[in-house]
Amino acid sequence: MSFDRTVKIAPSILSADFANFGAEIEAVEAQGADWIHVDVMDGHFVPNLTFGPPAVKAFRKHVKTVMDVHLMIAPVDPYIDAFADAGADILTAHVEAGPHIHRTLQAIRAAGMKAGVALNPGTPAQAVEHLLDLTDLICVMTVNPGFGGQKFIDMTAKVRSLRDMIGDRPVHIEIDGGVDPNTAPGLVDAGADVLVAGSAVFRGGSVENPTPYGDNMKAIRASFAG
Ligand code: DX5
Ligand code: ZN
Repeated sequence: MSFDRTVKIAPSILSADFANFGAEIEAVEAQGADWIHVDVMDGHFVPNLTFGPPAVKAFRKHVKTVMDVHLMIAPVDPYIDAFADAGADILTAHVEAGPHIHRTLQAIRAAGMKAGVALNPGTPAQAVEHLLDLTDLICVMTVNPGFGGQKFIDMTAKVRSLRDMIGDRPVHIEIDGGVDPNTAPGLVDAGADVLVAGSAVFRGGSVENPTPYGDNMKAIRASFAG
């Protein structure tokens, strides 16, 4: 995985057909997805449950791009090796998930993955100030994590602070929650380069009729291009 700051769209399969993940991943990649975003929830750190390492390992066979795994679980450390074995390219842990995020990021890299750190809306940018050389991606949550399709919470000022803080370091700024053609332009202008989108990508389409996935991603890209 080489680093660049061109804007990438990472569809969240939380909005896909849960009975058909393999075909959904292939369909959305064929329609132009840059990365595939996989939301792991434990019913404890967030009030919802999704899937664990064996399911993520099964998704891997269908992902040709980058598998971006967002852990909304606590604790994280006991599961790092399982997600490495599942084939995660990027593994993101929440700064709020435990007392030792520094150790967690070191362990993720030691297991051979890119290390991401996520910030809930209520957590300030300064929470990652001393982690910048240990992280490859900062995920700014623009909803309270747990569910797709929630109302966007404006975190533009936080994104600008992070972009200044990062400087020349090869660290992505990812936005997660409520990204659509209305919210994307301000986020890209503030310095975001990875846009996760669930409902705004999958709405209106299906494995049998995937063209809307492509149209939805084109509409997001068109909103900030030029
Ligand atoms: C929320 C998840 C998101 C979610 C985004 O907890 O982390 O990735 O799927 O969904 P939308 O784009 O519908 O807000
Ligand atoms: Zn996510």
